Amino acid sequence: MLHSEQVALAERLFEYIAEQRTATSDEIYLQPVDEYVSADVAAREQRHLFRERPLCVGLSGLLPAPGTYAVHDLSGLPLLLTRAEDGAFRAFLNVCRHRGARVAENCGRGRQFVCPYHAWTFGLDGRLLARPQDQAFGQAPRSTHGLTAVPAVERDGLLWVTPQVDGACDIERHLGGLSGELAAYDLAGFHHYRTCTLRRRMNWKLLVDTFLESYHFCVLHKNSICNIFYDNLTTFDHWGPHFRLVSARRTIEQLRSAPANDWNLLPHMVAIYVLFPNSVLVWQLDHIELWQVFPGPSADESLVQLSLYTPEPATSESAQRHWDKNFDLVVHVVEDEDFPVGEGIQNGFHAGAQSHITFGTNEPALSFYHRAITAAIA
Ligand code: FES
Ligand SMILES: [Fe+2]
Repeated sequence: MLHSEQVALAERLFEYIAEQRTATSDEIYLQPVDEYVSADVAAREQRHLFRERPLCVGLSGLLPAPGTYAVHDLSGLPLLLTRAEDGAFRAFLNVCRHRGARVAENCGRGRQFVCPYHAWTFGLDGRLLARPQDQAFGQAPRSTHGLTAVPAVERDGLLWVTPQVDGACDIERHLGGLSGELAAYDLAGFHHYRTCTLRRRMNWKLLVDTFLESYHFCVLHKNSICNIFYDNLTTFDHWGPHFRLVSARRTIEQLRSAPANDWNLLPHMVAIYVLFPNSVLVWQLDHIELWQVFPGPSADESLVQLSLYTPEPATSESAQRHWDKNFDLVVHVVEDEDFPVGEGIQNGFHAGAQSHITFGTNEPALSFYHRAITAAIA
């Protein structure tokens, strides 16, 4: 984040601390319960949010060198992300052009993918390089039977894919003004440490909602993160449908003794960026968490992938212990505190208690987010 932006934000946070307030919206927002349970809404979201626009699938460090790859299955399409020898990021359908088997699993390094079924062999650039009994397929030329590409772009340390064969990945248009803000983090320098996938009985939007206010910090998280952050005290800014929330760690008080020119806000804040519609990029102290949230098989289910990216490669045992501890704390807070409440909410949505839930004026990101989704799927 640019220094001038850090100073402006710190000043705003100090003002909120002094006045014991948070960013607000003008009015409350009534969010229909139906939008968390309806199969029709889920189908429209799938079409307009998860197929037509670029989705963030990782930081550049996910594919740290030429010859690396990773599969990505959360979107409902079997995707294969690669960085070929030329260093370029590409995405393909993980579907063999012979009879459709998956050509890769998990992640790793290599020069080619050998299909496990009959050994058709593809380069990381998608080309069909070789196949046993090549003469038997003379009428199906190798040149037209490479892996099927999907639009993919790498920009400022982030990997983007539009999961649709005939789609487009116009990242400038998608990010608009957020692009400069993200570029200032130098995300290309971060290293992938660890990823885990979670499945929860919650609508995918309810899962994103978890990140969108600090009103619950000292109630739900009274025994975990309440002591670390100010409660109900968060800035809110948006760029098109994307937005940022910044909450102050209590250590921000240390800045008061120094002139603003010397302020470094980064270790004293958590910045939550919602990369519309479904990725949550979190700056924590000195590292990045990337949450990718996708709809599950029904409106009541979601799939979530959490990845931790570190500023240095974690080569020593003590570094690994440090990052494991960070990772485990995050997973503990969401798995043991946020998500059980969320699953109860999802269950309660079917009980007929109310037609809508209510976002207060102290929860401006929630009303903004749901307005943006409603507009995008209309
Ligand atoms: S399905 Fe891949 S080689 Fe036959
Ligand atoms: Fe929480």
